[in-house]
Amino acid sequence: MQLLDGVLVSGHIKEQIKNETLEWQASGGKKPHLAAILVGNNPASEAYVGSKVKHCEELGFDSTLLRLSADISEADLIAEVNKLNNDDKVDGILVQLPLPAHISPDSVINAIDPGKDVDGFHPISQGRMVLGQPTFLPATPYGIMLMLEYYKIDTTGMNCVVIGRSNIVGTPMTLLMSRASNPGNATVTMCHSKTKNLKDFTRNADIIIAAIGRPRYVTADMVKEGAIVIDVGINRIDDPTKKSGSRLVGDVDFDNVAPLCSYITPVPKGVGLMTICGLMKNTLLAAKLKGK
Ligand code: GUN
Repeated sequence: MQLLDGVLVSGHIKEQIKNETLEWQASGGKKPHLAAILVGNNPASEAYVGSKVKHCEELGFDSTLLRLSADISEADLIAEVNKLNNDDKVDGILVQLPLPAHISPDSVINAIDPGKDVDGFHPISQGRMVLGQPTFLPATPYGIMLMLEYYKIDTTGMNCVVIGRSNIVGTPMTLLMSRASNPGNATVTMCHSKTKNLKDFTRNADIIIAAIGRPRYVTADMVKEGAIVIDVGINRIDDPTKKSGSRLVGDVDFDNVAPLCSYITPVPKGVGLMTICGLMKNTLLAAKLKGK
């Protein structure tokens, strides 16, 4: 079993991004600038956005963090997005999800200038992705493709099972893995919470991508010997042995599944770090596409 090491791969990719950013600046380009909007104070969202801002500093990007109250109206939030759309200094915009229940995420995402949509969530970005046109890929699936590429894992002809059908992971992941590319060229089955006999699918999978958001949902009896397992889940569970009283686990029962695998991502230090790489690559691309 080989661990797919998010620390190693993201370190390598961040070094590439840093160098490319310096070259861009040396040729007259301006520093990439990411603007993040955080609505309310969901602790997980706080942590994710904090990490994104920290990575901007590390890579030599500018960043703006806009903190807005949980009771902001949808119209006022869209007005804030429009200000960033019209701000020439800003290259990339992300609105951290989930949003409070009274705000439609679709309406807010639709308001983002597609040229600044570094999360790749806008219908124009997603449409381009479906058609295989150059675009901003959603950060997590993009990061997973970068990881498979780094380890030179040839997925051609593999049976790939994606568990989860969200717009931000499961659906784009299914598409990218089936595309005529490597990584890609796989025969992909999308499973989800209503799939009957999930095990019948996963036991036949050469690669399982788990993005279902349920702690340790994929158990050893669901995985065939030699499979590749990519764990997208980040779930906080109680753990009285920890000082904080909790710890993070993935969607995969790592301790029991890992011995069966050819490759597996850990949680933490796996896919989460790759998501940041996808976002940062998109932000640099947005800055370059905007021009000097
Ligand atoms: N919430 C969970 N994942 C993401 C992500 O990749 N981007 C944003 N904006 N919100 C998220």
